[in-house]
Amino acid sequence: MSRATGALISLAALRHNLRQAHALAPHSRIMAMVKANAYGHGLAVAARALSAADAFGVASLEEALILRHAGLAHPIVLLEGVFSAAEIEEAAHNGCELVVHDERQLALLEASALEKSLNVWLKLDTGMHRLGFAPGEAHAVWERLNSARSVRTPLRLMTHLARADEPGNPHTRAQLQTFADVTRGWIAERSIANSAALLAWPESHADWVRPGILLYGVSPFPDHAGVEYDLKPVMTMRTVLIAVKTVARGDTVGYGGNWQAERDTRIGIAAIGYGDGYPRHAPNGTPVLVNGARVPLIGRVAMDMIAVDLHTQATARVGDEVVLWGPELPVEEIARAAGTIPYELLCGVTQRVKFGVVDEHQPERAAAQAPQQIK
Ligand SMILES: Cc1ncc(COP(=O)(O)O)c(C=O)c1O
Repeated sequence: MSRATGALISLAALRHNLRQAHALAPHSRIMAMVKANAYGHGLAVAARALSAADAFGVASLEEALILRHAGLAHPIVLLEGVFSAAEIEEAAHNGCELVVHDERQLALLEASALEKSLNVWLKLDTGMHRLGFAPGEAHAVWERLNSARSVRTPLRLMTHLARADEPGNPHTRAQLQTFADVTRGWIAERSIANSAALLAWPESHADWVRPGILLYGVSPFPDHAGVEYDLKPVMTMRTVLIAVKTVARGDTVGYGGNWQAERDTRIGIAAIGYGDGYPRHAPNGTPVLVNGARVPLIGRVAMDMIAVDLHTQATARVGDEVVLWGPELPVEEIARAAGTIPYELLCGVTQRVKFGVVDEHQPERAAAQAPQQIK
């Protein structure tokens, strides 16, 4: 037996969420966002489960190569494009598509002489003010890309929304309008929508949608949970109790003693901490499941451990199951308690956590007890 701290990935949930994305945007193709190690879920495993997607979106060539080595032949879009001339060759060799967002990347592409041209997404900055060409530059860039011999035509067009998670926000309307105005009459496939836009802005769906967080069963909207949109949480973060004891009234628990027992209290110590990716800023009272029942976190989160108040769980024992987030305890709720967003919690699960998969053909319990290590 070894330390039980693990993240279980439900392949059935991934497939379900992809079907949901498709049902929401039936006329669009799906570029599944698997960047950042598939939002912390394991890049190759998640992508295989999402193989019904039309393409994958990653942040680097390294991530694309992991997908290729995993045997995935889908189009892969490098969302930040390339970082050097050498990367253009390698990206082309590996069948990647490039986003072009600035003059430097444009010049690299113009200077390259690939044997076979590649697909290029021209990224426009319509109001996010992060990456992309300004509307005033767009026409000249369009012309230059269209005559670059390494670039396959027709080009593709992309923009990213800054506030799609605020339904009805005029900033999003303005971004959509700018994109439409700038690209009017251009023959090209277009992509705008992230998860929030997929759910809240049907007019943004265009030819390709780019869901990320939604595929992992999590709501892109603050104050909502994925289940409200018929999404299924993919990751269950779990561990076990490694100590159970009674502290006397007046005793404090953990570093800094920021929780004090008001009465003699049974407490449990669970093997998970910020060294595993559990948020250090989770306050007293953050919910934790012990044997499926909610109990409050008490004391400061440490590197390897947390403490929970077990006064309602008289039968809880060492070895009993502890769930930090999952289908019965939305990661959205934990993120809110800890003052962060679920994206950060999912991406922040650390390397020492044992990843396992739950397949739809296996009963979840059995798999939870013997997680199959992800390759
Ligand atoms: C360019 C781009 N498109 C789509 C997404 C997916 O966003 P979400 O996970 O909110 O669906 C991201 C993620 O940050 C992104 O950077």
